[in-house]
Amino acid sequence: MVNPYLEGNFAPVLEERSDDHDLEVTGVVPPDLEGRLLRNGPNPVATPADPADYHWFTGDGMIHAIGLAGGRATGYRNRWVRTRQLSTKVATVPPKGPSEPVDGPANTHVIRHAGTTLALVESGFPHALSPDLDRARVHDFDGALSSPMTAHPKLDPDTGELVFFGVDLFGPPFLRYHVVDAMGHLTVTEDIATPRATMIHDFAVTATRVVFLDQPVAFDLALAAQGWSMPFRWTPDDGSRVGVLPRDGRGADIRWVSMDPSYVFHVVNAFDDGDRTVLDVVRYDSVFDTAPGEALTHSNPSLHRWTIDPAANRVLEERLDDVPVEFPRIDPAVAGRPYRYAYAVRQGDDPDRPGFEGLVKYDLARDEAVRFDPGPGRMPGEPVFVRAADGAAEDEGWVLSVVFDAARGASDLVILDATSFAGPPVATVHLPARVPFGFHGSWIPSDS
Ligand SMILES: [Fe+2]
Repeated sequence: MVNPYLEGNFAPVLEERSDDHDLEVTGVVPPDLEGRLLRNGPNPVATPADPADYHWFTGDGMIHAIGLAGGRATGYRNRWVRTRQLSTKVATVPPKGPSEPVDGPANTHVIRHAGTTLALVESGFPHALSPDLDRARVHDFDGALSSPMTAHPKLDPDTGELVFFGVDLFGPPFLRYHVVDAMGHLTVTEDIATPRATMIHDFAVTATRVVFLDQPVAFDLALAAQGWSMPFRWTPDDGSRVGVLPRDGRGADIRWVSMDPSYVFHVVNAFDDGDRTVLDVVRYDSVFDTAPGEALTHSNPSLHRWTIDPAANRVLEERLDDVPVEFPRIDPAVAGRPYRYAYAVRQGDDPDRPGFEGLVKYDLARDEAVRFDPGPGRMPGEPVFVRAADGAAEDEGWVLSVVFDAARGASDLVILDATSFAGPPVATVHLPARVPFGFHGSWIPSDS
């Protein structure tokens, strides 16, 4: 096998579909799901020049849109994100708007904020998408953003603020903190001093604080100059630390606390506990611990709780579960607040063979996990939670996951009742095409 990330359901689809309406459904689509699930992921438009060097993080972005309304599945549509880089490879209309520091894909997440749908990638600027996904505009918040934006901004459920950071590998500064207000105006940019450029995929936001992760995956300019697609190295001797900053603080107010080296791509959620800050994370012992061009290896990721105690100047680490999981999600209404439930993809046990075996619902109050098994030959993606319109409890709603069905050679949208998580699904929408394994997505209500 040349590269597992170009095989099976990691392989790209080559068709943009427009005319799929009234999709076949097994079960009943909950009538108050009115909107679209948008999901982004890498889908290289052309075979990489060196397939062995292709990294999953670098493929051109493609958005898959699944419409639900009136108890029906109203349609499916998919489009590559119209970046400038894409327009140099195939005949697509390049985006309007400013130049990006570096042309690249926009393949990691898609969100909606202040009435704008944004495709995100940590190496570049957001791309604002037209409703039909046919057009894009590079979005720099009216010129206020001058360096890349993470794909994991946090939406404050009370203030409507979009709180985020960005890494500029060619800094300094390598790290910046930003706040966009509920109207979509970028109002805060603070430089955060760090000694080197590292890969920072996600961070944490509570009601009052932000927490930055400075972990030992270093950007290597020499590897970049040699043309490696992912020029990063595991450098545990550099140490690992978390930086706590008041949300209304200046960059110089950050307080760093050292901890043992590890790597976190995804923070599940975080909240204040007095002076302490609690982060639930999916933690790896190490990543990128191989020479460039060698097989992609990493340790199994699992759910951990980090409690940052500034008085003791230490981070308490607790492993909450030993099952390998990734792509954690929560109810957006409890983001940054004490919470009870998290949802994640159950990964395979062999870290060298990427695989997605099922879904897990964690009840953190009762220290319990419930598993959804999608059935043989069926592999799920990120579970997106949508609270029911009349949902009083945190888990009264649905979990939406795009599931690849190997026997059909196509994908389904599976809708689970989160309070009956083990199944069976309340609805399975049979999509007309295969949706390659991807990264992140959002439920976009029709009235948003
Ligand atoms: Fe991510």
